Amino acid sequence: MEDILKIAAENPIIPVVKLERAEDATKLARALCKGGICCMEITFRTAAAKDAIKKVAEEVPEMLVGAGTVHSVAMAQQAVEAGARFIVSPGLDRAVVDWCQERDIPVFPGVSTPTELEVALELGLTTVKFFPAEQSGGAAMLHALASPYQGMRFMPTGGIRLENLSQYLRLPNVLACGGSWMCPGHMIEQ
Ligand code: 3PG
Repeated sequence: MEDILKIAAENPIIPVVKLERAEDATKLARALCKGGICCMEITFRTAAAKDAIKKVAEEVPEMLVGAGTVHSVAMAQQAVEAGARFIVSPGLDRAVVDWCQERDIPVFPGVSTPTELEVALELGLTTVKFFPAEQSGGAAMLHALASPYQGMRFMPTGGIRLENLSQYLRLPNVLACGGSWMCPGHMIEQ
């Protein structure tokens, strides 16, 4: 399995990217790497996602590309076939987690409550996505979860922007923060 702690430590901010055209993926990945961001999540929110991941995996090997918005095993399978090196979901789907764990593929399901965290613990996860972060209590919620869930590390996304990023990154239980603010659609278009 990839060393997730190492990856997150080296990439404390991870762009969540929605691409309408797969051909934009390579240039974007190169630009991000040039700017020091060598990890990106391409979301399965467009028909171009699989091809976009494939392009990045083949043409920009220095970029660690993962797939986001993965709602099913079929989507996880497509993503991994295309070259995704980690899987992110907005919620916790046991089948997706099992499928990834059986193949040693890093998986970050989304949680936003202690009850969901209990399920994550039961599945042996030590790092989860916290989503939607701002709407679920933000940095204060993660701070409150630190004590009862001492081994758990979080990758918050949802409503995180430059203005509130530091509130999250300063928390010891936050490994990395994700968000779409780094690569807005209109800028990719341009
Ligand atoms: C995600 O899937 O992680 C979110 O859509 C990112 O949320 P944001 O657009 O508010 O950054």
